[in-house]
Amino acid sequence: MLHDPVAFGPANALVAVKPLTGPSLRLLQRARFALPPILASNADDRHAGIRRVVGSFFTPATVAAIEPRIRELARAAVTVAARAVDEDGSVDLVEAVAARPPAILMLELLGLPVRDVAQLKTWSRESLELFWGWPDDERQLRLAGGAAEFYTWLRTVVREAVGADRRTLFGSLAEHGLSTPELCSLGYFLLIAGQETTTQLISTALFRLAANPDPDAWRKVATPAGASALVRRVLATESSVPTWRRVTTRAVELDGETLPAGCEILLELTGNHGTRARPTAYSLAFGSGIHRCLGAKLAELEATVVVQETARTLPPCRLGDASPEWTRLLSFQSPRTVTVTRR
Ligand code: HEM
Repeated sequence: MLHDPVAFGPANALVAVKPLTGPSLRLLQRARFALPPILASNADDRHAGIRRVVGSFFTPATVAAIEPRIRELARAAVTVAARAVDEDGSVDLVEAVAARPPAILMLELLGLPVRDVAQLKTWSRESLELFWGWPDDERQLRLAGGAAEFYTWLRTVVREAVGADRRTLFGSLAEHGLSTPELCSLGYFLLIAGQETTTQLISTALFRLAANPDPDAWRKVATPAGASALVRRVLATESSVPTWRRVTTRAVELDGETLPAGCEILLELTGNHGTRARPTAYSLAFGSGIHRCLGAKLAELEATVVVQETARTLPPCRLGDASPEWTRLLSFQSPRTVTVTRR
């Protein structure tokens, strides 16, 4: 399906799982909120050109070159976390370690000012729940309020970036011909998908590390190979993006069954798929084909470095809370907190 984007289109990629109510829609309209298809949900022939421009900000060379910066941010966060374990006996690794580095790196890579990071994290979580969750009407309205605020903030960021005399993603895309609403639509997706999913991946990896009863687990993960193995295992078994959607653009024959046009499909990219099938490979964690994730290398490197630095710097820890709340949305998952205490 991923390799036949004509029959299995991406138009439903960013559609709210639970339809937006009248009050939520009105609130979003007042902020001129709109998500015209640009990348993830774009089926038209502009996709390839836009993808090339966005991809030029995340080339393998760019990603490799920022490894020292990733490590610097990871070490700063882990040092604070280690002090908290020392002084207070415990720390929440989601807040202390996983949350900020991916967001700061994303803003830096796009040529944007690093500001309002805490707010960006809150808006990201709210928008994921608004579009991929099942909030009741009252909560949906509150989440829509957050999305509208985010979009208004984004419009200012986009305007500044287009007028800036440095290289920015929005400046490059404006030169490529994208309008302001199109830039905001892409920015909305990228500023969330480009960092919150990595925070989630790091959170789940740290949760599994702290839950591991093997006394040697922290020493193993303190090496690049050990950290990479843990991150890949999490990507294969409980990735932050375990599913993604497609929709049939015409009637399609599948396994002897005819799917009508407009049939919405939930693809299980990774995970163990119950008992009837073999576990999936990690290779589908970032999708495949013309929409494959443009941040795959970046996300994996960030997660590996942050997890490795945590295991290297913190004393071996165990979970302080073995059953934290998890975010479980249609296409996103991770523990909300990973509270650890010294072993
Ligand atoms: C653990 C972190 C991440 C996971 C699991 C993930 C996963 C995915 C998946 C499953 C897709 C859909 C692929 C398809 O339809 O074939 C996707 C698309 C995309 N991702 Fe990621 N992603 C992550 C992080 C990132 C980062 C850091 C960036 C920043 C560049 C990013 C940018 C994108 C873009 C731009 C698309 C749309 C590409 C297109 O439609 O051409 N993602 N991602």
